[in-house]
Amino acid sequence: MIHFAPSILSADFTQLQKDIDDVQRGGADYLHFDVMDGIFVPAISFGMPVLKCIAKKTELFLDVHLMIVEPERYLEEFIKDGADLVTVHLETLKEPEKVIKQIHDLGAKAGLAINPETPAEQIRPYLTMIDMALVMCVHPGFGEQAYLPSSDEKIAQIASWIREDGLYVDLEIDGGIKMDNVEKAVSLGANVIVAGSAVFHGDTVGNTERFLEKISKSGAQNLFCDRRS
Ligand code: DX5
Ligand code: ZN
Repeated sequence: MIHFAPSILSADFTQLQKDIDDVQRGGADYLHFDVMDGIFVPAISFGMPVLKCIAKKTELFLDVHLMIVEPERYLEEFIKDGADLVTVHLETLKEPEKVIKQIHDLGAKAGLAINPETPAEQIRPYLTMIDMALVMCVHPGFGEQAYLPSSDEKIAQIASWIREDGLYVDLEIDGGIKMDNVEKAVSLGANVIVAGSAVFHGDTVGNTERFLEKISKSGAQNLFCDRRS
């Protein structure tokens, strides 16, 4: 099953409710929420108070991507404030198993992300413990960057491990996803698609609809079935 997750990092914050309503109208089922701390990545974005407001006003699945050091310090608050899934970066963790368990114990799904320079092999041992693997297709920190071609191999590699081992793990891609490369990414095995600037710049409803058309044409099965529990 495929999920489409617009990243509100590229939304117009003076009309955030409208932008969220627009992606929902266009057919998205997830909302991607990028948290940046100015340490793990150069930029600072937004955090719990914004998530809390959004969670009260939307039915969309809240996919929270923590680009922060020591994410374990904030898990409880993000999950209490409405995160359905929390993704932490492998590069920030001393004891990944412990943090994954912490997310599950707090009642959320757990995702694990790797940066472009982190080899795919490093995430493999955790695939049996997590709900979602996230391959960063740009260096995290900003929207509107170009997709790194080296991501192709990583997506295909992780997708093949998931298939071969019969695991129930989603594979998310994030960064540089546009109308002209989304079909390829899905055909490589990604099933949770993040896009920011390509959704919120211009006609948000129309952009979302066009992404979903492309995704459905890519041969993806079971568009938007219920998420595996
Ligand atoms: C990058 C963020 C992305 C970003 C994607 O650090 O994690 O989610 O918003 O933006 P685009 O789709 O514009 O590359
Ligand atoms: Zn992200």
